[in-house]
Amino acid sequence: MRLLIKNIGTLAGILPADVLCLRGSEMNSAEQLHNAYLVAEDGIIARYGSMEELGEEEADEVVDAEGRVVFPAFCDSHSHIVYAGSREGEFRDKIAGMTYEEVAARGGGILNSADRLAEASEEELYEAAAKRAWRMIRSGAATLEIKSGYGLTLESELKMLRVARRLQQTLPATIKATFLGAHAVGRAFKGRQSDYVRHVCEDMIPAVAEQGIAEFVDVFCDRGFFTPEETAEILERGKRYGLRPKIHANELASSGGVQVGIRYGALSVDHLEEANEQDVKDLAASDTIPTVLPGASFFSNLPFAPARAMIEAGLPVAIASDCNPGSSPSGNMMFLWSLGCIKMRLTPEEALSALTINGAAALGLSADRGAISVGRRADLVVSKPVPSLAYLPYSFGEELVEHTIIGGKII
Ligand code: NIG
Ligand code: FE
Repeated sequence: MRLLIKNIGTLAGILPADVLCLRGSEMNSAEQLHNAYLVAEDGIIARYGSMEELGEEEADEVVDAEGRVVFPAFCDSHSHIVYAGSREGEFRDKIAGMTYEEVAARGGGILNSADRLAEASEEELYEAAAKRAWRMIRSGAATLEIKSGYGLTLESELKMLRVARRLQQTLPATIKATFLGAHAVGRAFKGRQSDYVRHVCEDMIPAVAEQGIAEFVDVFCDRGFFTPEETAEILERGKRYGLRPKIHANELASSGGVQVGIRYGALSVDHLEEANEQDVKDLAASDTIPTVLPGASFFSNLPFAPARAMIEAGLPVAIASDCNPGSSPSGNMMFLWSLGCIKMRLTPEEALSALTINGAAALGLSADRGAISVGRRADLVVSKPVPSLAYLPYSFGEELVEHTIIGGKII
C-alpha cells in the first residue's frame, strides 16, 4: 500500500531518524520543507522531499495537500478518557468560587467519578470512551495514553483497564494503558489512607501485572492526595512488577513529587503547575520528561506550568491533554497547541515538538513516531488550507484538521 501526499504547502516536524526527543533550544529546530511531497509505504514514511525532485510515482492513494500543512500526528501522553457520566455540576461550583481541592474535600471530584464508574457497565464505559477517543483521533491524535484511577477498587480498576485494552484492539490509534489506583483513597478506605496504599501495593499491582493490562504505574502525588513516601512505596512495588513510573506531580503544590519521580526513574512527571526553580534544576539533571497540561490550567484556573523556563533550562517539555471529566474535559490537541503558545509562550514550532516527538518520548515510543523521518510511522495530520504553520495555533478553536492519517491510512 503506497500513499503519496503531494504539493504540500509546508511539511513540518522533520527530524533525523535517530533523534528521540528535543531538549531546550532544540525544540525549535525541526526542519520544514515548502512545496514538498511525502511517500508512505505499508504505513511507514519511505521518502519525502521537494516537489521538484518528485518523479513519476505510482500510488494506491494520492492526497493533494496544496496550501496545507502536513505534520506528525499528535502523541497524547496523558489522558483519563475512560469514565462514566460528566461533572458539569462541579463546573458550576467552581464558577461560584470553589477550588479543585475544596470540591474534592467534600467528596466530589475523583470520588464522584468513581461512584458513577462503579455503576456503569463495561459496555457503556467502552462506548463512551471510544466516542472520546474518536474525537481525539479526528482532531489529530494517533497515539494516546489512558489511565485507570476512577475505579479505586480492585474490581473497578481492572474494569477500566479492560476497557482500555478493548480500545487498543478496536481503534486505529496506538493506545498505552497506565494503572492509577492511587488517584484518590477509595470510599471503602475513608480515613485509612495507609491501608489503601497497602491495598494498591499488595493486591492491585500484582493483579494488574498478572493480567498484563498496563505498562505504566501512576500516583497522584500532591497536597491532599498521596505523599512522596506513599508514592515511593507504590512506585517501588510497581517497578518490581514491571510497571514503569509516570506520575502526577506538583499540580497543587511543590510537594516533592518531582524528586520522588526522578528517584524512581519515572519516564515523565506530569502537571507541574507549581514546579519551582529547584524542581526545574532537578529535572535538568535527570532523564525524566516534564509533561505540562495546559488544558488543566485553563479549565481549572490554575497557574500554567513554567514551560518557558523549563525550555530555557534545556528540558525536553511535552504537552498532553489530561482529558478527564474533572479538570480538563477536552482532548483537543489543536487547542492545546494554542494554549502552549498563548499561555506558556512557546513558539508554534516548540509547542509542536512538545505535542509530537516529546509526547512520544514520554511514552517511550519516539523511536518509531512523533516526527517526519524515513522509517518512522506515517502517523500524520493534513491541515485544511492555511497561510502558514503558525496559523494553526493562532486561529484557536477553528477546525483545522482535514485528515488524520494513521499507519499510512486516511482515517
Ligand atoms: O490529572 N490531578 C489529578 N487527576 C486528574 C483530575 C481528576 C479528576 O478531577 O477527575 C488530573 O487533573
Ligand atoms: Fe491527569
